[in-house]
Amino acid sequence: MTLLHKLSTFCKMSQPLRTEVLKVDALSIVFPENAHIDGKLPEVNDTPSRDALLKAAHIIRDTEETVAFPTETVYGLGGSSLNDNSVRNIYKAKNRPSDNPLITHVSSIDQLNRKIYNDYEDGDILRNIPKIYHPLIEKLWPGPLTILLPIPPERNVSLSKLTTGDQPTFAVRIPANSIARALIALADTPIAAPSANASTRPSPTLASHVYHDLKGRIPLIIDGGACNVGVESTVVDGLCLPPALLRPGGFTYEDILHLGGESWRNCKVENKKTLSEGEKVRTPGMKYKHYAPSAKVIVLLPNDSDTQMQLIDKMKMFLSSHQPDIIDKKVAIMTTLKLTPILNEISLFASSNYKGTKTEFLVSELGASGEAIQANLFAALRKADETDNVDTIIVEGISETSEGLAVMNRLRKASGGNIVTI
Ligand code: TXA
Ligand code: MG
Repeated sequence: MTLLHKLSTFCKMSQPLRTEVLKVDALSIVFPENAHIDGKLPEVNDTPSRDALLKAAHIIRDTEETVAFPTETVYGLGGSSLNDNSVRNIYKAKNRPSDNPLITHVSSIDQLNRKIYNDYEDGDILRNIPKIYHPLIEKLWPGPLTILLPIPPERNVSLSKLTTGDQPTFAVRIPANSIARALIALADTPIAAPSANASTRPSPTLASHVYHDLKGRIPLIIDGGACNVGVESTVVDGLCLPPALLRPGGFTYEDILHLGGESWRNCKVENKKTLSEGEKVRTPGMKYKHYAPSAKVIVLLPNDSDTQMQLIDKMKMFLSSHQPDIIDKKVAIMTTLKLTPILNEISLFASSNYKGTKTEFLVSELGASGEAIQANLFAALRKADETDNVDTIIVEGISETSEGLAVMNRLRKASGGNIVTI
């Protein structure tokens, strides 16, 4: 290779890509009934949306590049699950450790059979999915539920090994978002897709979040608006005994217990916070730093039985005892269920008590229900961090039931375990 040739190859490799952003209207996509089972294709009744989807599908199917696209949970960074180089490009664009496995997204059970199991037979459509999952997927797919399946026998494997992070299983889900499902169906290719953030950052729930993290690193972002669930899918393992919830997410633990039938009644929640050295991880994502804004995050957990007056006093005490994170700093305070009713008092105290300092408070309500808090969480962390450039984020936590389990899981990681009970 001549020096000139080497130089031009190097320049090509290091040149940033032009990142195009194309809007797709979810309402223009119409799937026939049961398309998530039999794999029938959707109609797309809007030319720009159809063109954007076909362009994205072409990148996934015919190239080794990646595309960011909306799902109902968070934006995903997708590449073909069947192509090692596409999977490498996902890890590279996100800067993600390669032993953290990826979820494969399929548009239908039919596609799972054909493209992952190389199984074109007629007959029971669920034949490649262990029975324990049937009640769950019948009720919760398409939707934010990810299941672990055994890797198909060697002779049949078309799934890239690089998606599995050396686990004996692979993770799969059928997303509910019609843009995601149309893209996968039109590409007729299973798509490996982690959340489309740079590794360690909060997951993206808007196309602008993806652009902020990955511009110049990927060729295309499909903009389908805000993700309505706001946290990632629930990951369950039905291949172990008792079955386990590995990551709380868009469906609650209670959903799994109630809808899974007898076998899921004793489902346990895997919630190890740290790993001992050499310990094999069940859900590799848990050993990495996650969801972390650059600002310092402190999670506040108010006592359930306190009156508003008591909470006001405790907030004052909390602020006074955390001066180094507050004095002369820009501080975001995000309230949820207990502190929202005293939001005015907090603002008044903050503005009068820190007069004469450079301290600046941005007080906002994160949400009034578990679902709303969950939907707003990542966007609020990103706004505080990337738009408002705050130094400290003080965010009110909630109890760990229903959506609270997923919300507190993300907040624990975002704050590095900095949780203060008041
Ligand atoms: O909602 C979602 O699931 C989003 C959207 C884009 O679909 N995707 C997502 O992917 O959150 P990611 O890569 O950020 O999270 C995948 C999680 C990781 O925590 C990983 O450890 C776990 O799934 N996982 C994947 N394959 C696994 C396997 N074979 N065994 C155990 N855990 C697995
Ligand atoms: Mg992620």
